[in-house]
Amino acid sequence: MSDKVKSHFESTPNAEGYYGRFGGNHYPEELRSALEELTTCYQELRQSPEFQSTLKKAQIGFQGRPTPIHYLENISKQVGGAQIFVKREDLNHTGAHKINHCVGFGLLAKRMGKTKLIAETGAGQHGLALASAAAYFGLECEVHMGEVDISKQSSNVGKMQLLGARVVPVKTGQSALKDASDSAFNAYAEQHEHALYAIGSAIGPHPFPMIVRDFQGIVGREAREQFTSLSNGSLPEHVVACVAGGSNAMGIYTGFIDDPEVVLHAVEPLGISEELGKHAATLSYGRPGTLHGAESIVIQNYDGTPASVSSIASGLAYPGVGPEIAMLYEAGRLSIGRSLDKEVVDTFFRMAKFEGIIPALESAHALAFAIRLAAERPSSERILVNLSGRGDKDVDYVLEHYKPADFV
Ligand SMILES: Cc1ncc(COP(=O)(O)O)c(C=O)c1O
Repeated sequence: MSDKVKSHFESTPNAEGYYGRFGGNHYPEELRSALEELTTCYQELRQSPEFQSTLKKAQIGFQGRPTPIHYLENISKQVGGAQIFVKREDLNHTGAHKINHCVGFGLLAKRMGKTKLIAETGAGQHGLALASAAAYFGLECEVHMGEVDISKQSSNVGKMQLLGARVVPVKTGQSALKDASDSAFNAYAEQHEHALYAIGSAIGPHPFPMIVRDFQGIVGREAREQFTSLSNGSLPEHVVACVAGGSNAMGIYTGFIDDPEVVLHAVEPLGISEELGKHAATLSYGRPGTLHGAESIVIQNYDGTPASVSSIASGLAYPGVGPEIAMLYEAGRLSIGRSLDKEVVDTFFRMAKFEGIIPALESAHALAFAIRLAAERPSSERILVNLSGRGDKDVDYVLEHYKPADFV
């Protein structure tokens, strides 16, 4: 790890789990002892060479790390501006970056003597990664998922069940990601004696955002090393990631956060319009509030309750962001991008047709923005995009609703 990366890890969060004014621990008293136990165990275990070497073994053999960096030559040439590179997190086992922290939580649960992992999922990628990690470590697994997402992402549901997980349908609210998170937190409160909550993103009360960021940091550490070795030691001018809670973004930002010359772009889902309820662009339209046990930025109704959100990508339909993302945004370290559903679908088809890669709809938000950015920037500049997941899960939905001929 470079000294620059290390300095970021050392300064956030503070001992109370705050990132500037965001974060903290705003969960009911009954979870306090569970969260304290988790913080203490994690701080001890992360120092353990045995823990780190077991994690590394799983990352290499089970997950397939390191994932490569790849130049999108055809699209870059078509655009004729800056060069676009992707960090291929889609090549991870189970097809997305989520496995990075699921394997970490699995090992943590094992070492803490827990027998079960609990989580929420939106697109199903986190649930699938967690079910696989649970099977690998010999743990039970319970995944909470909104009914809307269950019907949209049915192939992932079947896979989770095949891997031995129990999928709990959630019918409250919008029957989507936020409601699944509420339901999973309740299950954790009831079962924390023997279960660990393996949260799906860098969200929630302390220590979850820190643990997820730390495990996802492998993406940025690898990307920095790989990029500098292919570019005579230089860094990319731009790093781009889509943001819901911020796990893939914090992962790749980790490698570049202390290099102010690298612009960090956070791409939000603009859905079908900027009207409340028609998007999930939290940093653009949210305001400070508390969600899932942490102070952050939240899209809210007038009365302060979390608002309904919408995105073609189930994994981005969340009305908040993780506290570290909120802090970086407020500190002016993030540049905000937005992609509309229709731009995302266009990019989905374009990546498939011209690059031979089908991206997850979540990742296609980052790619759509990167393509627009490349058109505005000179060919001397390099844009590194976190290609957070593959789009197999989205193919049926996209082909049912859109015709390739109407796009690229
Ligand atoms: C492939 C993929 N990318 C990105 C995300 C967004 O989550 P996060 O902001 O935590 O990276 C998801 C969430 O399900 C996802 O499945």
